[in-house]
Amino acid sequence: MVRRNMLAVAVALGAVAFGAASCCKKAPQGDARGVSEGKGAMSIQKSDFGTTKDGQKVELYTLTNKNGVVAKVMTYGAILTELHVPDKQGKKANVVLGFDTLKRYEEGHPYFGATIGRVTNRIGKGKFTLDGKTYELAVNNGPNALHGGLVGFDKKVWKAEEVKGAAGAAVRFTYRSPDGEEGYPGTLEAAVTYTLTDKDELKLDYKATTDKATPVNLTNHSYFNLKGAGNGDILGHVLTVNADKYTPADDTLLPTGDLAPVKGTPFDFTTPTAIGARVAQVPGEPRGYDLNYVVNGKAGELRPCAKVTEPTSGRVMEVSTTEPGVQFYTGNFLKGEETGIGGVYKQHYGFCLEAQHYPDSANQPKFPSTILKPGQTYTQTTVYRFGVE
Ligand code: GLA
Repeated sequence: MVRRNMLAVAVALGAVAFGAASCCKKAPQGDARGVSEGKGAMSIQKSDFGTTKDGQKVELYTLTNKNGVVAKVMTYGAILTELHVPDKQGKKANVVLGFDTLKRYEEGHPYFGATIGRVTNRIGKGKFTLDGKTYELAVNNGPNALHGGLVGFDKKVWKAEEVKGAAGAAVRFTYRSPDGEEGYPGTLEAAVTYTLTDKDELKLDYKATTDKATPVNLTNHSYFNLKGAGNGDILGHVLTVNADKYTPADDTLLPTGDLAPVKGTPFDFTTPTAIGARVAQVPGEPRGYDLNYVVNGKAGELRPCAKVTEPTSGRVMEVSTTEPGVQFYTGNFLKGEETGIGGVYKQHYGFCLEAQHYPDSANQPKFPSTILKPGQTYTQTTVYRFGVE
């Protein structure tokens, strides 16, 4: 249904997937960001987002649900660039940090909205041993490897296609990572599907297969600010994390291998607490949270992971995941050097809840394994559900 080479071709998913009568209706037009205040039909709009420095065309997909919630995702890095959700008055704001132009993404940024792979988070000293062979990765974060290497999945141009018959407006991104890319063994076929449902959920379904055993740990690195991107810090947001334990780490943020109770620490968000309430008690520099929680319940099953409420706007985000862990990061390294959609992004102007396997799992035999073998399929599902309170 999408006609290539045409900009901003509005595609009515409805005709096929939902039996709506209005085929090929245009996505609702609204404010300067293309976001409608009104309600309408679910739609997917595809547009040109420019060409990379090495000449690859990048497409932006605008997913709109019947309530006018809008998610924008692009083929570069399978990045979520914008997400517009209503406040308690029904007023929409973009709640993720991101940029307007491809150029700005290519200039470098701290993983805003990006799909991270082949292995998110840290691998100690950039080394792991698998089936008797030691693999060496680029060391790009202190002494460790971080977020898939120098040119991780966040910097690759993915292929994209609409998913017909999905439970919402859905786009599937695929990327083939060659054997040896960034030091990892095996050709990895990776996929992530973004589905925006009429229940105001943004659902991320990941899949991967390989032809050689390899570690795989995929996540999304969106920075959220429920007041709106650029509209102040997130310290007043109230967080609950469904985790009684976390993975203590050394001062390079590499797990020691232990699981420790959150009780009695500033990491305890088992009851709703303002993110900023105990931030001064968190050790380390720069100040803020940057740790992995052990999500309660059974990994592999979709279960509650976290809930965030923003008292002034009333916006709420609930995260559920199949992953064993979630990295909670409060934009500690933002220094006001990034000017994105909504303004300058200073320290603590966004928080991330990166559902994932624990950091350094490739070197920690007691952690749930991240090793994917030929014939197996890696899956992970994380759902961000928006509402108001
Ligand atoms: C993750 C890490 C942080 C930081 C950010 C990107 O959340 O845990 O330490 O590297 O990514 O800046």
